[in-house]
Amino acid sequence: MMKNVVITGVSSGIGLAIMQSFINAGFKVFGSVRKKEDALRLKQEFGDSYEPMFFDLTDDQAIKDEATRVAQIVGHQGIQLLVNSGGISGGDAIMHVSIDYMKHIYDVNTLGLMRVSQAFFPLLKISSANTSVQTKIVNISSGAGRAVRPYLGPYAATKHAVEAISDAMRRELMRYGIDVIIIEPGPIQTKIWDKNKAKVGQYKYQDTDYAVLFQKIDKGVEGMEHNALPASAVGDLVLKAYVSKKPRTRYLIAPHRWMFWLAIHVLSDRFLDRMFKKQFDKIEFSK
Ligand SMILES: NC(=O)c1ccc[n+]([C@@H]2O[C@H](COP(=O)([O-])OP(=O)(O)OC[C@H]3O[C@@H](n4cnc5c(N)ncnc54)[C@H](OP(=O)(O)O)[C@@H]3O)[C@@H](O)[C@H]2O)c1
Repeated sequence: MMKNVVITGVSSGIGLAIMQSFINAGFKVFGSVRKKEDALRLKQEFGDSYEPMFFDLTDDQAIKDEATRVAQIVGHQGIQLLVNSGGISGGDAIMHVSIDYMKHIYDVNTLGLMRVSQAFFPLLKISSANTSVQTKIVNISSGAGRAVRPYLGPYAATKHAVEAISDAMRRELMRYGIDVIIIEPGPIQTKIWDKNKAKVGQYKYQDTDYAVLFQKIDKGVEGMEHNALPASAVGDLVLKAYVSKKPRTRYLIAPHRWMFWLAIHVLSDRFLDRMFKKQFDKIEFSK
């Protein structure tokens, strides 16, 4: 039996890398995009192994419609894996970020994940009735879902919510034999960095006390980008987590992983406060 995987946000980055890993391993992938040209490009590259789905993560009806269409294609096999990867990031200061943007980033990163999970749940349930195959959900959270860098607060808030939702999901879906796994990437080489830089580059904090810092903050982004891991590392990890009979509930994947581990599990809040202050003072007062 060919296994079916649904992945959100396959036009680039981590979603695309996960799709590549699963197609190489012989799976059929239903991957969401928003632009026709992305679907055409991916169809050309992957042929019959790839079936495009079109939706924005904020569009309830479009997601439901695609779930109905996928149900007709997969029939009694259902889907064996759902990967929630689509999302956005952005550098923002908590006291100045607009409430409209806060609503939007939650709508995409957190509620989008819930919309897709709810819409495709019936197809996961069909698969889980067959106990000889593994049925799982993998949610792409972030290191920011566990430890919060300043000026990434709104993004970190959406990923903390993803962590909580994933824990609830896992505990509520045990009765169906559907496992839920959280992936927490640190810096990974994807377009998310450029998209972030472009936004910061608009110098949107010019009337605030953060003006100078936000003018230079791209330097901090470049520092993280410099060490970033290739997206294929996340693709390989998700495949490993899917095939594993005893996967962990959370996988942290990052350059200098031990630093993230220390920040999450060992170092005190006050220590981290001082560390981040030093780091961002250095950026703000640099020539
Ligand atoms: N890169 C990192 O360092 C890193 C670290 C930790 C976690 N993550 C997480 O990894 C996931 C993938 O990000 P990435 O780094 O691979 O970035 P990316 O290359 O920008 O990919 C993001 C994907 O999400 C899609 N997307 C964005 N907004 C959407 C919306 N409103 N509706 C539907 N699709 C939407 C994009 O589609 P379009 O092309 O149509 O915009 C794209 O396919 C995100 O959840 C991100 O938070 C990334």
